[in-house]
Amino acid sequence: MAERRNVVALTGAGISVESGIPAFRGTQGLWEKYDPMEYATLHAFVRSPRKVWEMLSEMVSVCGDAAPNAAHKGMAALEKRGVVRAVITQNVDGLHQAAGSRRVIEYHGNMETLVCISCWKRYPTRERWRPGTVPLCDCTEILKPDVVLFGEPIPWLAQEQAEEEARTCGVLLVIGTSAQVSPACDIPRIAKESGAAVIEINPEPTSLTASVTDLHLQGTASEVLGCLVGLLRNPANGHP
Ligand code: OAD
Repeated sequence: MAERRNVVALTGAGISVESGIPAFRGTQGLWEKYDPMEYATLHAFVRSPRKVWEMLSEMVSVCGDAAPNAAHKGMAALEKRGVVRAVITQNVDGLHQAAGSRRVIEYHGNMETLVCISCWKRYPTRERWRPGTVPLCDCTEILKPDVVLFGEPIPWLAQEQAEEEARTCGVLLVIGTSAQVSPACDIPRIAKESGAAVIEINPEPTSLTASVTDLHLQGTASEVLGCLVGLLRNPANGHP
């Protein structure tokens, strides 16, 4: 990382777990409580938006209460030092930007904006949504957060930029993602096929670990990034 400097990161829900936002999969995950086929598809939203808002309300309030943790701050520090070039995030919580990262590609959109799927008008979430309510457009339709639900395409600019970053980086850090959702899970493969080293930061192995990953740094995002930031500041410290 110190030599190549053109490092890109792909982050997932795991990087925000230490900010109090539960991941999607696993025993504490959101999908244990809400079946994604019933609560997280575009089809489900069109059919029963009030039901989908039961899950969305929880996401909006948890994200709204969260603050960046040491891992988000570590990523921002690495960008400031010219080591990390961009962060591609599947997260919709805005915590990378809150920590100070500037080049953030939001692959699955964000929770800050609501959009009307009928007339396409957009609103800041904090202006239209109150706990226990369903946000409405001026045209009376129920608004949808500007996040990618299953069955929706990735915003084209985010997809283009993410693939370009993956094709041209020297190192791809894959942090806190189970890499089970397509097309985000293709990003590590694109980077690897284009010659990048793939470094995974995750307490658990994933489907990438045995096939794509060159180095698995096993630990939480804040532990491992804390070590990396320290080492890059002073390589003489040796192995953490
Ligand atoms: P997942 O919930 O699938 O995976 C979270 C990953 O984070 C797991 O591999 C955990 O082992 C790891 N993890 C947990 N705690 C961690 C910590 N403290 N530090 C580092 N890693 C930790 O979340 P994603 O892979 O982000 O998409 O899920 C991808 C997509 O699936 C989401 O963007 C969302 C979801 O369905 C849509 O809704 C379209």
